[in-house]
Amino acid sequence: MDLEAKKNALRMISYGAYIATARGGDDTAAATVTWVTQMSFEPPLVAVGVKLDSQLYRAILRGNTFALNMLANDQSEIAARFFKAAQLEGETLGGYAVEFGVTGAPLLVDVPAYLECKVTDVVERGDHVLFLGEVVDAAHRREATPLDLYRDTKWNYGG
Ligand SMILES: Cc1cc2nc3c(=O)[nH]c(=O)nc-3n(C[C@H](O)[C@H](O)[C@H](O)COP(=O)(O)O)c2cc1C
Repeated sequence: MDLEAKKNALRMISYGAYIATARGGDDTAAATVTWVTQMSFEPPLVAVGVKLDSQLYRAILRGNTFALNMLANDQSEIAARFFKAAQLEGETLGGYAVEFGVTGAPLLVDVPAYLECKVTDVVERGDHVLFLGEVVDAAHRREATPLDLYRDTKWNYGG
């Protein structure tokens, strides 16, 4: 296989950017993720690829739940903040105000929408783990154009 072609073809998959958060016991984690897609209308399922052995992976496994905080196209600075681990300090996470959802996950109050999910399936195959989650709660606070990784940033995660 032509490895350069493989990389460039994989980088033609379109991605958004989301802040995945999870709480498992007293373990709270947050990370910017792009490998996200809806997988079913009924029941409403979403899939997310999470780096093996990351803080986020451990918190999702422990709590069996996760949340996806949807970013608007002018919120790339929030995505940049969660490329590195963030600690929960009272009602802030990585310096951003949060509230807590039905799953216990911290939810960023500045984002236009979020989903909370209960894990239904876990596929451990490669260096990222596929978590399939059923949506158990959601909020849509305001209209916004979603952040698009290619149009709105210079970042790449595929390849
Ligand atoms: C553009 C971009 C996209 C990313 N997408 C994902 C992703 O889909 N899944 C994931 O697990 N990590 C992804 N990451 C990495 C996480 O943001 C990063 O590993 C995490 O915030 C750090 O947590 P850790 O210290 O526990 O590894 C991405 C990073 C970048 C720069």
